[in-house]
Amino acid sequence: MTHSEKRASFGSKLGIILATAGSAVGLGNVWRFPYMAGENGGAAFIIVYVVCVFLLGIPCMVSEFIIGRHGAANTARAYSKLAGHTPWRLVGFLGVLTGFLITGYYSVVSGWCLEYVVGSVTGSMDGNADYIQQYFKDFSANPWKPVVWSFLFLIITHLVIVRGVRNGIERASKLLMPTLFVLLLMIVVASCMLPGASNGIDFLFHPDFSKMNSEVFLGALGQSFYSMSIAMGCICTYASYFTRHTNLAKSAFQISIIDCVVAILAGLMIFPAAFSVGISPDSGPSLVFVTLPNIFHQAFATMPIIGQIVALLFFVLLGLAALTSLISLHEVSTAFFQEELHISRGKAATIVTVTCGIIGMFCSWSLGAFDGLQLFGMSLFDIFDFVTGQIFLPIGGFLTCLFIGWYVPKKIVHDEFTNWGTVSGALFGIYLFCVRIVCPICILLVFLHQLKVF
Ligand code: PHE
Repeated sequence: MTHSEKRASFGSKLGIILATAGSAVGLGNVWRFPYMAGENGGAAFIIVYVVCVFLLGIPCMVSEFIIGRHGAANTARAYSKLAGHTPWRLVGFLGVLTGFLITGYYSVVSGWCLEYVVGSVTGSMDGNADYIQQYFKDFSANPWKPVVWSFLFLIITHLVIVRGVRNGIERASKLLMPTLFVLLLMIVVASCMLPGASNGIDFLFHPDFSKMNSEVFLGALGQSFYSMSIAMGCICTYASYFTRHTNLAKSAFQISIIDCVVAILAGLMIFPAAFSVGISPDSGPSLVFVTLPNIFHQAFATMPIIGQIVALLFFVLLGLAALTSLISLHEVSTAFFQEELHISRGKAATIVTVTCGIIGMFCSWSLGAFDGLQLFGMSLFDIFDFVTGQIFLPIGGFLTCLFIGWYVPKKIVHDEFTNWGTVSGALFGIYLFCVRIVCPICILLVFLHQLKVF
């Protein structure tokens, strides 16, 4: 029996692409990319970003694909299979740990989307800018409401996960991703039809190369990494469900294109509406939970019902993007516990749901309900974000590249890349050069820059 027969696998190419793109397309596409692009030279930034995706994101993704599919096991075990008893196997554990910790705090923000979906239906968040700001402040500092929503979101994720790879993850992705795309297009159209929308389109796409500097370049690199869910165990875990026929390089390319297109469309959803009412957008939670509701409210002031519908569609969209990412994060730890503790999928998923729910609860409390949950002046929530995104992620990505590029026998890497000689290996040389040299250097630079070493 081959490994692909023994283990659960995705049932179709489309399933693979949509599930993995579902992991990649998340809050990062909506709340960071558009702002970064608008602030840093518009089309010029987009070009730099796409170069980063090609030079860094795709090679890293392919590397994780190779480790995952070769290992046909959870991320920790997949690395161990190639690393033996050498310290390299710890990189796999780091990936699982990173995925696990992010699941906790990602579920908090995901839960907020549910509150806002309900809020847009009932109209309870309709009001002027001050009202919306206060609404968010009160809600996020409430000790129980956000906790209940984040548990609910984790339970929805749990219900998908326990159904397994094909019936759960793949089916959900095939339904959710196209829905997300349609919602996105609907809001883009509504936003671009507003008076004065063309100024926003100009702002996003006007290439301004004078804004380019090393800072912007490093920002684009970091964003491409986060946006493609690299070094969090997700890509490696999903790849362990790929079949021997999955063309790894081609899939990584297609997934990256989807991720980029969604990010750019998110910009087309935000900027035209923002310019139409003369509000300058920011990034992060305040963009999606304060500024955007206010923008929609004002932009459609003459047709409040349309404003309410657009806000509703937007939060459903955000919730779906978060859900498909959270599913992939949850699966990292579920697969790990299932295989390492030799327990059923249901039990493993329950461990993850409960423990991550508790982590999420503390993260949520640290945002206002209990101010004591702070360290070095940062809330627990920010600490999780910082440690996983700015420390674990670059270290994991850096070591993964060195591992695949220099440690793993080249024959194994080549076999996986070419599906044992059945698909073209024309790009293999470039790929290897990237993971051996270009990626480690670039990731190191981003890492040192994030730590403010230079
Ligand atoms: N890629 C997701 C985004 O853009 C974030 C994410 C990171 C999701 C890691 C899963 C794992 O928001």
